[in-house]
Amino acid sequence: MDIKQRIWEQGQQYDSFYLYDEKRIIENTHRLQQDFPLVDFLYSMKTNPAPAVVRCVCAQGFGVDAASLNEVKLAVSTGVPAAHILYSAPGKREADIQEALGKSTVIADSIAEIMKIQKIAQEKGIIVPIGIRINPDFTFTMDKGMPSKFGIDEEQVLSLISQWVQLPNIKIIGIHVHVKSQELQADVLAAYHKKIFQLAYTIRQALGYALTFVNMGSGLGIPYSRSDVPLDTARLGRQTAVLIDAYRKKLAGTKIILETGRYAVGDSGYYVTKVLDRKESRGKTFIILQNTLNGFVRPSLNQLVRHYTDKEHPTMYEPFFTCTDAFPIDALTEEKETEMVTLAGNLCAATDVIATDMVLPKLKPGDLIVMNDAGSYAAVMTPMQFSSQEKPQQLFLRKDGTVVNAME
Ligand SMILES: Cc1ncc(COP(=O)(O)O)c(C=O)c1O
Repeated sequence: MDIKQRIWEQGQQYDSFYLYDEKRIIENTHRLQQDFPLVDFLYSMKTNPAPAVVRCVCAQGFGVDAASLNEVKLAVSTGVPAAHILYSAPGKREADIQEALGKSTVIADSIAEIMKIQKIAQEKGIIVPIGIRINPDFTFTMDKGMPSKFGIDEEQVLSLISQWVQLPNIKIIGIHVHVKSQELQADVLAAYHKKIFQLAYTIRQALGYALTFVNMGSGLGIPYSRSDVPLDTARLGRQTAVLIDAYRKKLAGTKIILETGRYAVGDSGYYVTKVLDRKESRGKTFIILQNTLNGFVRPSLNQLVRHYTDKEHPTMYEPFFTCTDAFPIDALTEEKETEMVTLAGNLCAATDVIATDMVLPKLKPGDLIVMNDAGSYAAVMTPMQFSSQEKPQQLFLRKDGTVVNAME
């Protein structure tokens, strides 16, 4: 039975819902494992923390890139071992660090945070293995760093690392770097990874011992626009293998890690909203849908960007905006005759519009609108409290064809 049929069935029960396709998640995770046999992967839980999704990704052997203490806890309750949970976020509170110790490897995001972990570890009388997030002196495309709220500038790391090595209650065992999201060109990522390997070797030399891990972050993009060419993971995997081989001796004993970002789950998700009403107003036809801006915000944000610029390709602003033609709209209806319509949501807000003057089959109440690529940065980004409307369901389509609540 195809996915459209599944969506149609669920639409008889729910007026708006996400459907995450387990089969697709497994295909994506297996592709990564096959193309990068020497790399360990962490699931970027912030992209979609629905428990059924997390269980599915972690069951494939992935660890977790946790962005908060709550994500550390969800990873632990999913059965992920502490050694496979890296907790990296700016602005961790003392209580966050206290509770995360032993459950994960904490990645210090600032100089002050290194000292905060040292103090906590001293009070506990333990030595804590930590990672440090580095804001590198390069980007994907430039050999020059940028100011960032994330991590510690590479120059600062290099000037302070000899002091950190002397701290009695912490031991730096790894580094974490992530500078950009949504890259579709394998060669750009490969060139960036090469610079991270060189940086890791520099850090290893400064420390005087081997690093346990180098986490190269994410950036693995997915096609959103119809003109996007998917990231060639096989090509990037081959380039990574060459790099690992070239650094076999220099980074001996060091685990190479990539974060999935949106890659594992992004294209597995569908957002579905039901037609509630239709009306004519001064020559225009409006279709009113259940939960658009307050169900899946990103299509509405695309409209917002369109409102402010005529540019054909406005600059990406992840994870809110990728491109104006992301999330193509599909209608599930038996109707064949078409008409031009504006698609709007059921909020008392005039800006709650997801498409203007679009040609679609003539929709009637009960028909469904479906948007793709709603697996990552979708439900988590959406202001679902707005107008106190009912929230969309989050459903998980198991590979055996059954559908369950993704939130349980
Ligand atoms: C450290 C880190 N890892 C992973 C991600 C998510 O990956 P992406 O946005 O590349 O899909 C982000 C996003 O900003 C991030 O900051």
